[in-house]
Amino acid sequence: MLNTKKVKMETFGCQMNKSDSEKILGLLATIGYEPTELEEDADLVVINTCSIRENAVQRLVGHLGNYKKLKRFNPDLILSVGGCVPQHEKENIRKKAPFVDIVFGSQNFNKIHEIVQKFEENRKPVVSIIDKGNIFEDEMPTRRDEKHHAWVTIMNGCSRYCTYCIVPYVRGNEVSRKPESIINEIEVAVANGCKEVTLLGQIIDLYGRDLRPKLNFEELLYKIHDIEGLERIKFVTSHPNYMTKSLVDTVAKLDKLCEYFHLPIQSGNNEILKKMNRRYTLEDYEEIVNYIRTKIPDAAITSDLIVGFPTETEEQFMDTVNCAIKFRFDAVNTAAYSIRPGTVAGAMDGQIDELTKNIRLNELNKVVQEMAKTKNKERIGKIENLLVTGYNEKKGNYYGRTRGARLVHFKADDSLIGQFVNVRVTDGTRSSLRGELVTDLEV
Ligand code: SAH
Ligand code: SF4
Ligand code: F3S
Repeated sequence: MLNTKKVKMETFGCQMNKSDSEKILGLLATIGYEPTELEEDADLVVINTCSIRENAVQRLVGHLGNYKKLKRFNPDLILSVGGCVPQHEKENIRKKAPFVDIVFGSQNFNKIHEIVQKFEENRKPVVSIIDKGNIFEDEMPTRRDEKHHAWVTIMNGCSRYCTYCIVPYVRGNEVSRKPESIINEIEVAVANGCKEVTLLGQIIDLYGRDLRPKLNFEELLYKIHDIEGLERIKFVTSHPNYMTKSLVDTVAKLDKLCEYFHLPIQSGNNEILKKMNRRYTLEDYEEIVNYIRTKIPDAAITSDLIVGFPTETEEQFMDTVNCAIKFRFDAVNTAAYSIRPGTVAGAMDGQIDELTKNIRLNELNKVVQEMAKTKNKERIGKIENLLVTGYNEKKGNYYGRTRGARLVHFKADDSLIGQFVNVRVTDGTRSSLRGELVTDLEV
């Protein structure tokens, strides 16, 4: 019997990082670590970092200050930092924060249990980063946060090099995971009660092009669709240049595939899109959105938008605002352009000052929030099918997500967590819907 040790996991960044953290906890469990929320109880702290925005290192070092203090009370505490920031910064992390014991990257977190064991044996600082790893080479156990819904990473990295983006530098080139491994993970999750999966990849539409034998994303979807007991499938993120009409047809055709498309456009101006190296125009984007809405009229379409990209004029910014209105997005993640050292856009002339970027961001936020509210209110009276995933004690509400990934709150007498229920929408805000339970007979 292994001694139980405690690990506190802290995760920043995107859903993929959160999913990686579940794998890190799974791997650490194999060497006797159980999760704790309390850092005072921890024998090991793992911080999984994100570098998508400016000053990622400084912010991380600031955050590590708390753990430096904690180490004074508990000198045996093992402090480790992993993920996208160290992948780029390597030895720099320990130069800035020498009290960190272990540094690992986003391309070898699949070896975290071995790295921690090595540290436990000789207590010498470890910096373990590799540039061309394949995190999928071994099967990884996982410790999921949720029981009924699972995030499943099907590819890592990105080879697209949009000029603003750090991801290819901190996640490496695109690597697809073998279909058998994906299916196996989903089957295990389903055996443990999971009913819905969201597949994750930076350009998920490109899944499989590096696999031998080849298998494309749609073929993978057919395989996943065959898994018995799995009821819903979602996927993010699609790229407007690679999302095909055929993929939309597959979503329309296969029952378990949900009518939900996360299709970041980034800017509403063709000149800026070109400078971003996105490789599509506003017109191409419109064509694919029109196709989705013709094939699947009730589809939810969400997007990402960046304001203040270098050289962006007021008119070009207004093109972005206007595209948010024109495409009637259900939700948008917005961001002010953030300089990432080492990227092409980071070195461009014509950087926009912070104040202007923030003014533009606020203006855009008002528009996209108003749109989200309008779209949610349009759903009043509709019946939505939810997978109930939680209960908010403070508000006394159950909540769950629709096939279009909309969050719905409702009241119920008995616990319905893990079940599919129908609710009639009674109200909508910019971030969620409210509904009331309806019986099967009413539907
Ligand atoms: N692979 C996805 C995006 C992954 S990064 C795609 O191609 O759409 C998630 C989001 O972060 C991006 O869509 C973009 O809107 C935002 N982002 C990335 N780099 C950024 C930067 N330097 N400044 C501001 N936002 C950025
Ligand atoms: Fe970044 Fe572009 Fe790759 Fe998305 S497609 S991860 S924005 S480089
Ligand atoms: Fe994700 Fe941030 Fe890395 S957005 S891929 S955790 S840089």
